Amino acid sequence: MSKNAELLARRQAAVPRGVASATPIFTERAENAELWDADGRRYLDFAVGIAVCNTGHRHPKVISAVEEQLKRYTHTAFQVSAYEPYIALAERLNEAAPIKDAKTIFFTTGAEAVENAIKVARVATGRQGVIAFRGAFHGRTALTGALTGKIVPYRMGAGPAVPGIYHAPFPVPHHGVSVDDAFYGLETIFKVEIEAKDVAAIIVEPVQGEGGFYVAPKDFMVRLRKLCDDHGILLICDEIQTGFARTGKIFATEHYDVEPDLITVAKALAGGFPLSGLIGKASIIDTPLPGGMGGTYGGSPIGIAAAHAVMDVIADEKLCARAEKIGARMKERLEAMKGRVDTAPIGDIRGLGAMVAFELVTEKGGNTPNPAATSALVAKALSHGLIILSCGYWANTIRLLAPVTVPDEQLEEGLNMLEKALVDVAAAAKAA
Ligand SMILES: Cc1ncc(COP(=O)(O)O)c(C=O)c1O
Repeated sequence: MSKNAELLARRQAAVPRGVASATPIFTERAENAELWDADGRRYLDFAVGIAVCNTGHRHPKVISAVEEQLKRYTHTAFQVSAYEPYIALAERLNEAAPIKDAKTIFFTTGAEAVENAIKVARVATGRQGVIAFRGAFHGRTALTGALTGKIVPYRMGAGPAVPGIYHAPFPVPHHGVSVDDAFYGLETIFKVEIEAKDVAAIIVEPVQGEGGFYVAPKDFMVRLRKLCDDHGILLICDEIQTGFARTGKIFATEHYDVEPDLITVAKALAGGFPLSGLIGKASIIDTPLPGGMGGTYGGSPIGIAAAHAVMDVIADEKLCARAEKIGARMKERLEAMKGRVDTAPIGDIRGLGAMVAFELVTEKGGNTPNPAATSALVAKALSHGLIILSCGYWANTIRLLAPVTVPDEQLEEGLNMLEKALVDVAAAAKAA
């Protein structure tokens, strides 16, 4: 029995199925874009822990910053005896974020950052309602799960939804929802569900992550800001998946010339160590009382040390420009794969910077989602040595999340593996 198979059997016996794994392999070690499994097989990792290791697995500067921190102290709780690197990281994010007069607080997970964003919005406005978008993903806790705009598997059977949460359509023109349709949906909520004056916040991902890498059109974000201003509603940008060089900017919101009131960050912020944060306009984020926010591990010194190194690496290695280059090359190769007669039919190809995705459809030139081909492609790619993830409201989207530090030859190697897998999936469909 292979070590992977042995571990899979132990996992199935000891760990609930609720925490699903996208692949049946178990990690032995990982460096930058490469990962080796328990049987010693090498893979290229175009998932990087779900958009976490944008700076690659174990970036030497991140590892050495963490090692230095381990020699000094590992945990004191910021609420008990605070530490300078936390303040310095807040200063760096306040400076980098597209928010004037910002302050930042740190937590541990993305869901925790979102929970706190909603808390701040409610305290600051004295209102209860929150609007999220269909297909959005904001987490799996009771509140963030309720914000997440997809029932199966995130909310199935988990009891009555948290009250005060409403979902508007997200604009996806090629699935028949224009920006005007999305605004009609929002205005309808104000007419039939909750008055605008009772809405505390609208939360939006500038590029939907789990929902399918749908990029918010620029006029949508601009109109959303105006709608919020017209009604005294706060705008929260969830940048947990889009942040830290992934889209070619530190914050995807920077592509839009829109100033949010609050921004949630996590994942790539600390390059593989658990750290999240909430950045907000001082007049808003300062409204909860002392003690009203925080958490035992919030802003762990280890995560903070890693995040400083991540910010240095992004600047030193010009990763924002690199993300643009990687994304352009991915799109070019995907267009060529789409044009071949012997690949599984590819639909829309999209993305921002190195946050790139494509859809699998039932026939060339068509638009009907093909979820079966999508899961077959994930498995085939793995058999060729490439780790990729699917996503999407229609379960037919493949997202490519190579580390932004991936060397050119490994980027090509991974895309060659993907191309082979697309040919295999088409051949299997023909044979069936
Ligand atoms: C946009 C977005 N928000 C929130 C979350 C939740 O983050 P976490 O899994 O760290 O709780 C995620 C996780 O995928 C995400 O992509």
